[in-house]
Amino acid sequence: MEVTGSRERFRSACEQARASGAAVALVPTMGALHAGHRSLLARAREDGAFVAMTLFVNPLQFADAADLAAYPRTREGDLDAAANEGVDLVFAPGEAEMYPYGTPEVGVDPGPLGGRLEGASRPGHFRGVLTVVAKLFALAGPCRAYFGQKDAQQLELVRRMVRDLNLPVDVIACATVREPDGLALSSRNARLTPAQRAAAAALHRALDAGADRIASGERRPAAVIETMAAVVSAALEADLDYAALVDDASWGEPAVAEGTVRLLVAASFGEVRLIDNRSVSVPAAARDVPAERAQ
Ligand code: PAJ
Repeated sequence: MEVTGSRERFRSACEQARASGAAVALVPTMGALHAGHRSLLARAREDGAFVAMTLFVNPLQFADAADLAAYPRTREGDLDAAANEGVDLVFAPGEAEMYPYGTPEVGVDPGPLGGRLEGASRPGHFRGVLTVVAKLFALAGPCRAYFGQKDAQQLELVRRMVRDLNLPVDVIACATVREPDGLALSSRNARLTPAQRAAAAALHRALDAGADRIASGERRPAAVIETMAAVVSAALEADLDYAALVDDASWGEPAVAEGTVRLLVAASFGEVRLIDNRSVSVPAAARDVPAERAQ
């Protein structure tokens, strides 16, 4: 496994891989690797490509300096994990290599979806994410890029960027990896106290409770949202940011839940802000509702 901090080396290594007939599989990360990241790397490896992982804590996507400072940095462990997953190349640039002219003046506008949900709570976040991802795509060249469903809004915005800007990238969505109690793995989980850690499982329970209400026949988004909010708010030290229901394709807020919808929650446990989401297929008509629940 090669490790480089150089943009030019990253670009030339990807070019060489393509020249030798391999597809390039790109896995962008901010490090502090856990089993969620490793599942993306394993998927990229299975796809039989030249696997390039990037490791860069992107200051542009942190609105809050304290959050950036608190972000875990575990470079040596990350390189070991990447080597174990069969990564071919790690691009781990310093900040001056990534942003040689300082904070870029030109960036990617994430559009209206970039200002909602996570974007409403974290102004500038998605512009920062899309700008760094566009830079990584420009260096990597034509590739498949792997993103987790855990960050569903990020995944959707990356897809829209690729579509709207004709970028030569196939975006591959990977399932959320969870702890046994359902908590989605996150680099932030390590900062939870044991009590907060136990309480944080409420995020996943809230999503399941929302899905259960839909399965029971509820079609009013507000009612589903209320159920999810109540489950999160009942958890110890939980400060709910939002519970939401969106159409899974348009990300609009439907008047009635139908087709495939996505349920999303965000809450802080002490200083630690966590997010989670899941999709739900809404049965088309009452006759599709399981008999014991249809009443
Ligand atoms: P980071 O939070 O390090 O996540 C890197 C990738 O791992 C993202 O695609 C994320 O969705 C995925 N991931 C995180 N937790 C996961 C889990 N429990 N299961 C499955 N996948 C998971 O997301 C970023 O970094 C940055 O915004 C980045 C895209 C690298 C741009 O800076």
